[in-house]
Amino acid sequence: MREFARLVAHQVAGDLRGLPSALRRAPTRSARVCKALNVEELRRRARRSVPRAIFDFVDGGANDELAMARNRRDFEALELHARCLVDVSSLDTRTYVLGSEIRLPLIGGPTGLAGLVHHGGEAALARAVQRAGSIYVLSASASYTIEEVAAAAPGPKWFQLYLWRDRGFVLEMLERAQRAAYSALVVTVDAPPVGRRERDIANGFSVPPRLTTRSLLGGLAHPRWSAGFVAHSRFAMAHAPAEASGTTPLGHVEYMARQFDASVAWPDLDWVRERWRGPLVVKGIVRPEDAAMAIEAGADAIVVSNHGGRQLDDAPSSISVLPRVVDAAEGRAEVYLDSGVRRGSDVVKALALGARACMIARPLLYGLAVAGEQGAAHAMELVAREYELALALSGCTSSAEVRTASLLDGGPAVDSITRGA
Ligand SMILES: Cc1cc2nc3c(=O)[nH]c(=O)nc-3n(C[C@H](O)[C@H](O)[C@H](O)COP(=O)(O)O)c2cc1C
Repeated sequence: MREFARLVAHQVAGDLRGLPSALRRAPTRSARVCKALNVEELRRRARRSVPRAIFDFVDGGANDELAMARNRRDFEALELHARCLVDVSSLDTRTYVLGSEIRLPLIGGPTGLAGLVHHGGEAALARAVQRAGSIYVLSASASYTIEEVAAAAPGPKWFQLYLWRDRGFVLEMLERAQRAAYSALVVTVDAPPVGRRERDIANGFSVPPRLTTRSLLGGLAHPRWSAGFVAHSRFAMAHAPAEASGTTPLGHVEYMARQFDASVAWPDLDWVRERWRGPLVVKGIVRPEDAAMAIEAGADAIVVSNHGGRQLDDAPSSISVLPRVVDAAEGRAEVYLDSGVRRGSDVVKALALGARACMIARPLLYGLAVAGEQGAAHAMELVAREYELALALSGCTSSAEVRTASLLDGGPAVDSITRGA
């Protein structure tokens, strides 16, 4: 009894000592976001932070969202068979991608129109990812320009491009990215047309957002988001040519949808390769023979991706096809993976199946929705911390070791998930 009383007194005294500084600390939004325990919690907070149409634009997938669900289901089914009695007191999480060292094998993936989510947009995302010691990939569909992001986030970054119909415009973007020291080009090849996102259709989502009773009510219910939205006006694509701007009768979305070129084919990749001087990454591959052809065309890296289930709803999960793509690459190109990475242990699983690194997209946007740059930084930190712990608990001392530790061998799910590997 006396022991218990002493324990309580000790705890109360400690709490009282901490009280003045706790009172001094305002309960800021960034303090609140830092309490999100994991990406799923960040997602729930994001849902409350922005109007529904914005949240659904980020969170949604194509059609029935089957591919999106498959991405998670397959990650979750994989088991990690840990090695024991390995000294994991010192961990080396570093990885090299295209010759650059990153602090952990996690890259900030490209997402367009981040300014809709938070006025800080891609500039905030780039800073958050660079603060975590990694590389940010700026989307061609961003709400900040190539030059603005380069000035706001001078650290390492790559530029992502779609092969739009207007090749003069594509060429101009390539040259601008090259001048602004984006060190690699990511060409996304899984969006000949844009997928059908039924949540967006149901919500009447458009760019720039249309003023309707519903969108007005959504804005009123989220005054902080609305204030940023009105004050900073970052709701359209910064790179869209003048014809696409809202000043013409042609809607922005309609114009840009017309830019997605359904006739894009392999010779177009050669066209880009001839014009981009740095490393080339091809994003959106799920078939080994396509990986081999991309490498033949001069790709230095492949991103195995189903676009987070936002394009072909009947696509396989990225993790299930990863081993086949890795085999097809035969070490001639680096292989990364995205789509569904939500936990640090997912990164371990992807590395165990041969990926060099993962990209994350929605987790950064959830964080951005909740608390701007701080929120995105928190998303990176959550996954980074989980990655370190998963590494240690798996008995691996480094990212490089994960690739050779056979952590997935013997798991009942691995063969059925990666069948055909
Ligand atoms: C709102 C949003 C916008 C996106 N915009 C782009 C884009 O402009 N270019 C691109 O290659 N991929 C884009 N993507 C796809 C992501 O880069 C990534 O492939 C996908 O979201 C899967 O990763 P995740 O599961 O971590 O979200 C976008 C994804 C989202 C959610």
